Amino acid sequence: MLYSLLKPILFSVDAELAHEVSLEMLNQFRSLVPQARIKKPKQVMGIEFPNSVGLAAGLDKNAEYLPGLSKLGFGFIEVGTVTPQAQDGNPRPRIFRLIRHRSIINRMGFNNKGVDHLLQQLPGRPRPYVLGINIGKNLNTPVDNALSDYRTGLQKVYLQADYISLNISSPNTPGLRKLQSETALDALLHGIHETRKALQDQHQFDRPIALKIAPDLDDKTIPAIAELLHKHHIDALIATNTTVDRQSVDRHPLAAESGGLSGEAMNEKSRHVLSQFQLALKDEIPIISVGGISSAAEAQRRLELGASLVQIYTGLIYQGPGLVREIARAIS
Ligand SMILES: Cc1cc2nc3c(=O)[nH]c(=O)nc-3n(C[C@H](O)[C@H](O)[C@H](O)COP(=O)(O)O)c2cc1C
Repeated sequence: MLYSLLKPILFSVDAELAHEVSLEMLNQFRSLVPQARIKKPKQVMGIEFPNSVGLAAGLDKNAEYLPGLSKLGFGFIEVGTVTPQAQDGNPRPRIFRLIRHRSIINRMGFNNKGVDHLLQQLPGRPRPYVLGINIGKNLNTPVDNALSDYRTGLQKVYLQADYISLNISSPNTPGLRKLQSETALDALLHGIHETRKALQDQHQFDRPIALKIAPDLDDKTIPAIAELLHKHHIDALIATNTTVDRQSVDRHPLAAESGGLSGEAMNEKSRHVLSQFQLALKDEIPIISVGGISSAAEAQRRLELGASLVQIYTGLIYQGPGLVREIARAIS
């Protein structure tokens, strides 16, 4: 209700500024926001999720808005992508609204304040939501050396995260998606598994690890990635990040902006990748579906296609925060 009054004002200013103002207002006025609690517990990756709707990575990159976001009823919140060192990301403007498609193009480029800053923001346990921390590599770390950044991230967030996701699928860090090739991914996940075993020995417990992939994979790469997830004991797949494909928006004046497309325009693509991975993973590794979900019906459809959980980002911007409750209550 309140969001429908604010939306025309927010949509009249630069998209990134609107993001920042909305999140700041949510945090500042959180005592006025009623606490949404939707209990529909679901066990995934060995964790009990209060409900199946999560916030996708990228909205709260530094975990600075958890006090406000935690009032909206999410069963889980994924913060980040965070890198070992702080970095500025690409020059602004870097978020563009494609309003008639209820979609966004962004080329943020992992702007974040670094993993140490993020860790200082986190509330202790117990928390009323599951907390995922999404880690990536710095722009100036060569792709051949990416493992070293993921290793640092993993070691730093291991204690505080409920699960950790590896982002190898942003289109806005040059070369990052090369890590999805079979050889590179095999080496990366091998290294991650070694680090994980060491952390397990050191702390005497295991933390689930998820891999977040792009939607722009060909149907031959999907079974190969599925195989590697098994081989390296990855606990979940997050499908998908934004797309570089512009087919669904090709007549839009902003279609040529470089970056990743998210929102309803990537719906079909995200569904297709979900179905392909579901075939390849055969229910043995859970899938978190993300990409274009903006209604309870679409979320339910993703569960029917084999997803265990769903995440939203762009839908939240177009539909407002009530979307979290709407989906969480409706889906089963
Ligand atoms: C402005 C913006 C920034 C994003 N930043 C990240 C990020 O830092 N890390 C990440 O894994 N995904 C990031 N994403 C991708 C989302 O998490 C999600 O995978 C994608 O937007 C598809 O979901 P949606 O259609 O519900 O937005 C970002 C998306 C947007 C729109």
